Amino acid sequence: MNASLYCFSGTGNSLAVAKTIHAALSDAALTRITSALVEQRPKIQAEIVGIVFPVYAWGPPGIVERFLQQAEITQPQYLFLVATHGGGPENALAYAANLLRRKQLRVDAVFDIQMPNNYITGSNPSSEEDARMLIQRQTSALEAITLKIQERRTIPVSSTPSLSGKIKSRVIHPLFTANAFRQGKKFAVSDACTHCGICAKVCPVENIRLNQQQTPEWGTRCEWCLACINWCPARAIESGSATAGRNRYHHPDVKLHEIIAN
Ligand SMILES: Cc1cc2nc3c(=O)[nH]c(=O)nc-3n(C[C@H](O)[C@H](O)[C@H](O)COP(=O)(O)O)c2cc1C
Ligand code: SF4
Ligand code: SF4
Repeated sequence: MNASLYCFSGTGNSLAVAKTIHAALSDAALTRITSALVEQRPKIQAEIVGIVFPVYAWGPPGIVERFLQQAEITQPQYLFLVATHGGGPENALAYAANLLRRKQLRVDAVFDIQMPNNYITGSNPSSEEDARMLIQRQTSALEAITLKIQERRTIPVSSTPSLSGKIKSRVIHPLFTANAFRQGKKFAVSDACTHCGICAKVCPVENIRLNQQQTPEWGTRCEWCLACINWCPARAIESGSATAGRNRYHHPDVKLHEIIAN
């Protein structure tokens, strides 16, 4: 069976998960959602379709929502979603599945997997040692997900019954997404900047330009993926005072050139 996998990833967790699933499926293509969205209405036709994304504020990132809404997906034999998160996905998968259901698409299976937290503007991301330990611990969980996908298992989406979970995903999440673009203007760069340009290269939506001094300047298209601040090798980027002294995180096995290939 041929398979089309789509992935959005800022710091590599979702890309690492998507790559593992991709390697386990025969005749599969892995496409970045940013590349697919070069077309206004990407057409997707495959026997298996899978979409892998991180959780942002208890829902899918804005760019993933746009992809789910805009893509013209022909109902595949098996359609699955995988959400990576830092420990609190709440109803993110139900939210994403609902966007597809509104287009009369049947979602056959949903999976979530905890990965190291990259949310540096909200809390201290995982240290390198803790991140490696968590990724190691999650190896069997990822293998189990991959096996279920290979066997085309049906895993229905379930919503957390808690009121706070519903409020987070249904009320706070849309507000977060609508205001994500403001995050770009909160970044500042320090004298530690070596003008390497990596921040501009990892930005999935080309929201960073280098000025004449090769110093980054942020625009108004930010998706709040936090790739720029987490990948900066000089730790020269801060977001207000919140991020000072916090760890920087990106998946230890995902290489810079892989994340740049957006
Ligand atoms: C803006 C933002 C919001 C986040 N919100 C949540 C959240 O609500 N719940 C959660 O468990 N993790 C949250 N996270 C953590 C990420 O979902 C998690 O680290 C994910 O695996 C990152 O994937 P990536 O490396 O593919 O970008 C958030 C991360 C970011 C950048
Ligand atoms: S990645 Fe860091 S060091 Fe490199 S240009 Fe950007 S801010 Fe400067
Ligand atoms: S500016 Fe930074 S946080 Fe915003 S989308 Fe680009 S890489 Fe992500």
